[in-house]
Amino acid sequence: MHHPSEQTILVLATSFLDQPVTAHPKAGAARALLDAAAAGTTADAAGTVTVRYRCDRNPAAELTAAEIEGVTAIIADLERYPEELLRQVGPAGGGALRIICRYGVGTDSVDIAAATRAGVMVTNTPGCNSLPTAEWAVTTLLDVAGRRTVHHERAAAGNPKVGPSRLDITGKRLGVVGTGQIGRRVVELLSGFHLNVVAFDPYPNHEWAEAHGVRYVSLDELIDGSDFITLHAAHREQMIGEREVARFRPDTVLVNCARWVLVDNRAVYHAVREGRMYGYGVDETWTEVDLPLAGLNIATSPHVGSDTDAGKINMQLATARQIVQFLSGETPENLLNPETLQRR
Ligand SMILES: NC(=O)c1ccc[n+]([C@@H]2O[C@H](COP(=O)([O-])OP(=O)(O)OC[C@H]3O[C@@H](n4cnc5c(N)ncnc54)[C@H](O)[C@@H]3O)[C@@H](O)[C@H]2O)c1
Repeated sequence: MHHPSEQTILVLATSFLDQPVTAHPKAGAARALLDAAAAGTTADAAGTVTVRYRCDRNPAAELTAAEIEGVTAIIADLERYPEELLRQVGPAGGGALRIICRYGVGTDSVDIAAATRAGVMVTNTPGCNSLPTAEWAVTTLLDVAGRRTVHHERAAAGNPKVGPSRLDITGKRLGVVGTGQIGRRVVELLSGFHLNVVAFDPYPNHEWAEAHGVRYVSLDELIDGSDFITLHAAHREQMIGEREVARFRPDTVLVNCARWVLVDNRAVYHAVREGRMYGYGVDETWTEVDLPLAGLNIATSPHVGSDTDAGKINMQLATARQIVQFLSGETPENLLNPETLQRR
């Protein structure tokens, strides 16, 4: 049986031990924090702490209760934590798990309501990777507007250009869906292009919008009036489906560096192929095997928005810090379900 003075920390975040490309003053600092906890030198962390690194685990594989038996805290990648699992491994079901620290801002992989019922704390790392992800969204937008993937395919195979010219950027209209940490930075990074920016967010940030000349509109108005649309909404359901795609123009560019679920990829794929929209950029691995991308202006990437030295080091530190806070009996700084504190 789990003994409260024996704590096992399981690190599943695949990039937790990555070495930085460029020398960084905080490289390795997160691991040092966890090592100090394990060595018993962290303030107030009572008992024995063991840290297990399983950074090679594929987050797409289903996580079983057996894999995390006896584990008190997890630094989590994108593996899923559904109700059934949480019920078994949390304190309400007699299990050891007390906290899931999501390595990232998105928490759609964790059923937070079920975690709360199971008595498991859930934290995330807001803001840690917003600049790298905003940089990646901007890069993706420029690549799609420039037809870079198609040009690369042609040129790399020794062939001349095919298809339409690339799009001008400066002075176009940009529609930003979701003006949180990432959406706002995208607008700021693109400022040199003098875009006419409209935005949609159910919780508008009027002060920021005024400072940056951004006008809030409805989602329909944004779709109808934008040349470039970039998605940064923390939303868990589809926002761009057949109906929205039908309103795009042949020069519409769509970028999705938020989550796969926001877009009906099949609808977008067919629209690009038939020239009803200009191109699509998505920061997820393309899993639609029956929809081949060759020759199409669709740029994909394997969820690398936050995959920079700064992005990773910030997420490593934020998760390790919250593990230490948890071990010391403090409230983790980004606790998403404070209701669980009553049960500690
Ligand atoms: N590709 C990557 O590697 C990567 C990295 C970090 C974050 N993300 C994703 O990017 C998204 C945004 O992250 P963030 O850090 O800016 O989050 P954030 O919480 O700071 O901002 C999200 C914004 O979305 C808004 N929103 C919620 N529902 C909406 C809706 N239906 N329509 C429009 N706006 C809506 C919220 O009001 C908020 O302003 C998240 O989904 C996150 O999972 C992806």
